Amino acid sequence: MAARRLGIEPHPTIAMNNLITLLPNSRPSVPDNPAIPFVEGDGVGPEVTAAMRAVTDKAVQTAYSGRRRIEWKEVLAGGKAFERTGEWLPEETTEAFRTHLVGIKGPLMTPVGGGIRSLNVALRQGLDLYVCQRPVRWFKGVVSPVKRPQDVDIIVFRENTEDIYAGIEWEAGTPEATKVLHFLQDEMGVKKVRFPSTSSIGIKPVSREGTERLVRAAARYAVDTGRKRLTLVHKGNIMKFTEGGFKRWGYELLEREFAKEMKDGRLIADDCIADAFLQNALLKPEAYSVVATLNLNGDYISDMLAAQVGGIGISPGGNINYTTGHAIFEATHGTAPDIAGQDKANPCSLILSACMMLEHIGWAEAARSIETAITRCLSQGKATADLARFMPGGTTLTTSDFTAEIISHLN
Ligand code: NAI
Repeated sequence: MAARRLGIEPHPTIAMNNLITLLPNSRPSVPDNPAIPFVEGDGVGPEVTAAMRAVTDKAVQTAYSGRRRIEWKEVLAGGKAFERTGEWLPEETTEAFRTHLVGIKGPLMTPVGGGIRSLNVALRQGLDLYVCQRPVRWFKGVVSPVKRPQDVDIIVFRENTEDIYAGIEWEAGTPEATKVLHFLQDEMGVKKVRFPSTSSIGIKPVSREGTERLVRAAARYAVDTGRKRLTLVHKGNIMKFTEGGFKRWGYELLEREFAKEMKDGRLIADDCIADAFLQNALLKPEAYSVVATLNLNGDYISDMLAAQVGGIGISPGGNINYTTGHAIFEATHGTAPDIAGQDKANPCSLILSACMMLEHIGWAEAARSIETAITRCLSQGKATADLARFMPGGTTLTTSDFTAEIISHLN
């Protein structure tokens, strides 16, 4: 049995009827006691995962009067997996996320010198999780570098599988880089590589299909949540076929599949050049609501927006394939080795990722109650050290005490 081989006893109550499945309308069908796989993660992972599970369990129990309950199923990745199985990302783990559709993970260390560049990227690619969804909003009490952080309420849909970020690159001076350069110069007539002999080369694939599925998911979200405004962010003025293609294919998709919603005002679409977007998002963030963008732009944009609300350490994330229903929600920070094991880590990023997960499976009441509880704690200046030290009159709590405080506000 795969789980036993990993040293984990399977949960006795996990059976086929605990599985989340996908309905023909692409919505998940969720039993009252779904089995949900989780990866504890490395460094502060065990601490923030324990906090996330405790808060989520209590919120679900309270919101549904004990009628619903998550059957947590631990799967291994990262350091713990390597220790027990000799593999950083055992196939059983990817398989568990595949079978159970929805899961959650703590931060994972990047293996040094291994064949895997990043465990997170390997998981995203393995399940083709093409949307990286990053909601960014301000929580009252959190100190921010801008005057009106409350104006930021933006959901970023970042394309997760293409772009220069896809990792197709060759190092300067290697036979591979030289071969690609020769092809470009000799067969494609490229004369623009300024210093060919010392150039590393990267490839930027952006496809119509990749663009369409991302923009479709963002538009559907904008309509379903009543947010309405969707902005395509790109650098198509310079990179005409890749980022320009993203803009053109995006608009074409909207005109084809969302004509009715745009006509009756349930969807308002526009676009913005990436550099202008970074300025505008700082000067008038209220102009944006749902943003669809390419992989690299999305990386910068989500962290800049998170910093604007003072929430770089607490912002949540989800990697989702809206076609197959596969989704893995995750803390957006790393393993924080400097504070691991000290009961200091802020668990909000993973807890708010669990809120996204609850929302995704349609348990919105539990998600809302957690957000309200976190808002109450933070607005009273109660937080872990990373946030409390900047709050005037803030009270620094340990991870465990902060978790207990959140739980005490759940009703
Ligand atoms: P990091 O996010 O782990 O730490 C950066 C700084 O933020 C540190 O001072 C840390 O103490 C603080 N910090 C991070 N999370 C915190 C939390 N929850 N509460 C309080 N303070 C927190 O980034 P770093 O140091 O660059 O990476 C460490 C390891 O994490 C690396 O192996 C990296 O590859 C991995 N990593 C994993 C990610 C993931 O699994 N999603 C994302 C980013 C990094």
